[in-house]
Amino acid sequence: MRMSTFTRTKDVETVLHQNDAADGEHPGLKRQLKARDLMAFGVGIVIGTGIFTLTGVEAKNHAGPGIVISFAIAGVVSMLAALCYAELAAAVPTAGSSYTYAYTTIGEVFAWIIAWDLILEFALGSAVVARGWSGYLQDSLGLPTTFFGEESVVNLGAVFIVLVLGVVAAIGIRESSWVTTALVVVKVAVCLFVIFAGIFFLKAANLVPFIPESRPEAEGTSGLRQPLWQWVSGVEPTAYGVGGILVAAAVVFFAYSGFEAVANLGEETEKPGRDMPRGLIGTLLLCTLLYLGVCFVLTGMVDFRDLSEGAPISDAFHQVGLGWAGFLIGVAAVAGLSSVILVEIVALGRIGYALSRDGLLPRSIGAIHPTYQTPFRFTVAITLVIAVFAAFIPLDALAEMVSIGTLFAFFVVAIAVAVLRRTKPDMDRPFRTPAVPLLPIVSGLSCVALMACLAVDTWLRFLVWLLAGLLIYVFYGRKHSMLAPGRQDRETSAAQ
Ligand code: ALA
Repeated sequence: MRMSTFTRTKDVETVLHQNDAADGEHPGLKRQLKARDLMAFGVGIVIGTGIFTLTGVEAKNHAGPGIVISFAIAGVVSMLAALCYAELAAAVPTAGSSYTYAYTTIGEVFAWIIAWDLILEFALGSAVVARGWSGYLQDSLGLPTTFFGEESVVNLGAVFIVLVLGVVAAIGIRESSWVTTALVVVKVAVCLFVIFAGIFFLKAANLVPFIPESRPEAEGTSGLRQPLWQWVSGVEPTAYGVGGILVAAAVVFFAYSGFEAVANLGEETEKPGRDMPRGLIGTLLLCTLLYLGVCFVLTGMVDFRDLSEGAPISDAFHQVGLGWAGFLIGVAAVAGLSSVILVEIVALGRIGYALSRDGLLPRSIGAIHPTYQTPFRFTVAITLVIAVFAAFIPLDALAEMVSIGTLFAFFVVAIAVAVLRRTKPDMDRPFRTPAVPLLPIVSGLSCVALMACLAVDTWLRFLVWLLAGLLIYVFYGRKHSMLAPGRQDRETSAAQ
């Protein structure tokens, strides 16, 4: 096996013209989006179970009121990554996003691994949000906990919403733009309501101590549940304290995941050079501010030990005697979370489309359906996989997997920015990441540092996933890639 097979790269120019060269099976996408649409899309996909549910879980189990610091750390790491994404998304606007950036810089096998990683991020991400959806539905309507929420044996609520929205995505019903906008407004309004109404119920005693004292992990906690860095260094596993804040930062990183899906809309953006950076950075700024406000108020309203793990925000309002507000928040969360699931499934379809267009997945799997104009087969297959995960795996375990996958993708993007500056110094860059190579280096290192705060078993699962991906590449993608020797010629003669 020659090394060049793994490191072969795509030409940036080829990528930029790929859209024009679209064929009948993979027709090109229309350029019609502006910065405002990108931000609406971004906020729509970012604000979800991370803030609505994980806040409670992580404040209760790891960080206490210090969850605000965890969200701030995760926000800074995301912002560094966004600055890297913005340069590449503006210069190489394509449906494949970080996958394509890796393809044009460090080589095909890395590109495939990134795509494989993105599939993990969006598939498990939508399973997490579906479980969060089910938790709020259970809380609002008092449904049986056996089938809804985190105590369920089989989370039928989560399975139901995944299947419904999977069908919607597969047959190409997009939320009409007013529904999308309305749901984004609802989610932002809920966050603002929590902040401005909740502030009247703050109790200083709930916020002191802000960082609960670190204590040894409860007896019986498996060694594999401790953060990788503690396991490697032999430090005794602890909960709370500064270590707890870092663990929570790595887990709630999930709350920011998805903003990079804005970059997947590169081929549909009217002026990607101007609007991509605005869309990415604007999305992240808005979400970070809302998150910090919500975390502070939530942990100030209710003692962190009393937070609910299923529907913490609406439950907090119930606890302070504003039941009607709790109910309304629950209903709004159910509506708002649905749109996250839909957008994630649609984003998965785009990744499948890009992979099959490049020959790394069978062309038939990612083919665009003639009637529905969607990557139908890929969308249906991935929906079924998501439903199985959503049925059985706890929300926080899934969220950790999404966090590790997202952090890894951000790490590769940071490398790609620095590498591309050296290998393609003259490339047209409508937006330039500031302080290269320092900023990408800091970005990459901070991703690795947060990854090291995730549990050993999360690492093991992630490595198994990566290994499976590598095997698929070695036995399929490597030979069928459009960059494989003679492949283009074979395609052309088959078409004649
Ligand atoms: N960031 C999204 C959420 O928090 C996926 O649900």
